[in-house]
Amino acid sequence: MRECIVFCALCLMYGVPVLGSDRRHKEPPLDCGFIPWLGHALEFGRDAAAFLSRMKAKHGDIFTVQVAGRFVTVLLDPLSYDHVVWESSDKLDFGKYAKILMERMFDVTLPDHDAIAEKALLRSHLQNQNLPVLARSMFRNLSAILNDNSVAVTTWREDGLFSFSYGVMLRAGYLTLFGSESEKLWAAGRDVRHSLHVYTQFQKFDQLLMKSARGVLSADGVLEESLRLTAAPFITREVLTELPLKLEDGTEYLLRRGDRLCLFPYISPQMDPEIHPEPQVFVWLLILNFEFELVNPAEKIPEFDRSRYGFGVLQPEGDIKFRYKRRSL
Ligand SMILES: *[C@@H]1O[C@H](CO)[C@@H](O)[C@H](O)[C@H]1NC(C)=O
Repeated sequence: MRECIVFCALCLMYGVPVLGSDRRHKEPPLDCGFIPWLGHALEFGRDAAAFLSRMKAKHGDIFTVQVAGRFVTVLLDPLSYDHVVWESSDKLDFGKYAKILMERMFDVTLPDHDAIAEKALLRSHLQNQNLPVLARSMFRNLSAILNDNSVAVTTWREDGLFSFSYGVMLRAGYLTLFGSESEKLWAAGRDVRHSLHVYTQFQKFDQLLMKSARGVLSADGVLEESLRLTAAPFITREVLTELPLKLEDGTEYLLRRGDRLCLFPYISPQMDPEIHPEPQVFVWLLILNFEFELVNPAEKIPEFDRSRYGFGVLQPEGDIKFRYKRRSL
């Protein structure tokens, strides 16, 4: 039994905010909340971002909270995710959730895949000497899509900032990862068109996926919502053995066996006002290729689409309209 239970009882009696003080050496700070067993489940389910921001201010980038009887260690520092992602799957398991989701949503049971071999493959293709090659391909594919001459010099075309960037990045990423359809020189134009087709199909699939994920993981009620969040497949790891975790800043923590580890990249850096990203290649390519302006410069930045928590990088709830046309050179 965790120290929370006794603590909660005592604190309810004396009206003291609950913070586990009896943590084992090096474990992340434990925050049990006021309500026995439930802990922070309600606040977490109601507004995860606000809750996590509050916890971040109180404890920093890593902490353990009690959520409906579970102890969930939240890691917010995206620079430290590498250690988690590359940790062997017999120490931090995430296959369990991916499997449950696959079974419930698609009625598919994948044969046990070799996670170690898969990681080795990723390492060899996406890191080290292969990375510059991949980056060059990505750059060329991005340029090809942005140079697509269906965008005229004379007439403005309207789109959403998000939808535009998302589409272009996904299409360029698709072409870069899956390669060209043909060896022939004129293939570039065909690839650009093909990637557009793939993208429209992908959008349909994505909408279906979100719909059925919501059905499966049923998010009625705040308690269900917090359970859903802490089990979201792409960000959750089950701690299978006591595990040292070194953060990017050098601090070392010990994760407790049986706890759940959640990576919540969305409140940092996307929501961290102190981070001003460098202008990136993408923006630079845009400026080279297009003139653009906001349709309504006074428009507010949209909130995050909360229904997508746990499914990759968060998307905005709405989009900001802008118009663009090709630069005349
Ligand atoms: C896009 O990427 C693929 C695979 O990396 C590459 O074969 C192809 O040449 C790239 N396209 C362009 C236009 O450079």
